[in-house]
Amino acid sequence: MNRRTILERAAPIAAAILFAAMPVTAQPDPPGPPAASAGATIQTQADAQPASPATSAPPAAAEFMARGEYLVNILGCNDCHTPMAMGPDGPAPDMTRMLSGHPEGLELAFPEPMPTMPWAMVGSATNTAFAGPWGISFATNLTPEEVTGMGIWTEDMFVKALRKGRHMGVSRPIMPPMPWPAYGQMTDDDLRAVFAFLKSIPPIRNRVPAYLPPPGAEESFTEAQ
Ligand code: HEC
Repeated sequence: MNRRTILERAAPIAAAILFAAMPVTAQPDPPGPPAASAGATIQTQADAQPASPATSAPPAAAEFMARGEYLVNILGCNDCHTPMAMGPDGPAPDMTRMLSGHPEGLELAFPEPMPTMPWAMVGSATNTAFAGPWGISFATNLTPEEVTGMGIWTEDMFVKALRKGRHMGVSRPIMPPMPWPAYGQMTDDDLRAVFAFLKSIPPIRNRVPAYLPPPGAEESFTEAQ
């Protein structure tokens, strides 16, 4: 069974369940980001304050980074990409493992039996693994770690991944429940700010298990990952 057949079978079911109201076509790019002018601002401020310590970020860059942090917080990236652990107030993202994805070593297979309609999805206690008609998806490592995280990702890959819903921007479809159809509607500036913030967080080495296609479709996406 080829990749497209799998996609045609599994993705529409998943999409219908989870993203019925969301547009799935790529959004037209909003007016371009003020990248050049932001650079110019930084230059001007650096020129105006030659005595400021080299380590403190210029205000424009600091604001950009703060915007990225704010977006990551309000968009709930930690809810799925940071493992939940039981705390004094119930389950909460374990911020010592911030955005490092589904824990390495917590191998999960399809629940037996899978739920039947109208139930469709099973989530792990960590809220980082999700089994449904699309297979099992594991929230990825969003830290800048070189081998297991997004260390080698470029901004362009990140923007494409969230706009087009493709692994690394070009490869297999990104499965539910990753809300890329919603996030893909962010402005270029906001997507860039999110990426800049993700690049600045502590790298955590954590190899997330590979996506598992639905039973009977084992050969599907695995070679494309
Ligand atoms: C509801 C849960 C959920 C939320 C919220 C969520 N994600 Fe995800 N994300 C996932 C899952 C699950 C995957 C893995 C999907 C797969 O393997 O196909 C994923 C995959 C990704 C990928 C693709 C990585 C790759 O290898 O191509 C990126 C990038 C990403 N998420 C970024 C984010 C960012 C940034 C946020 C917040 C703005 C976020 N996610 C919020 C569940 C979520």
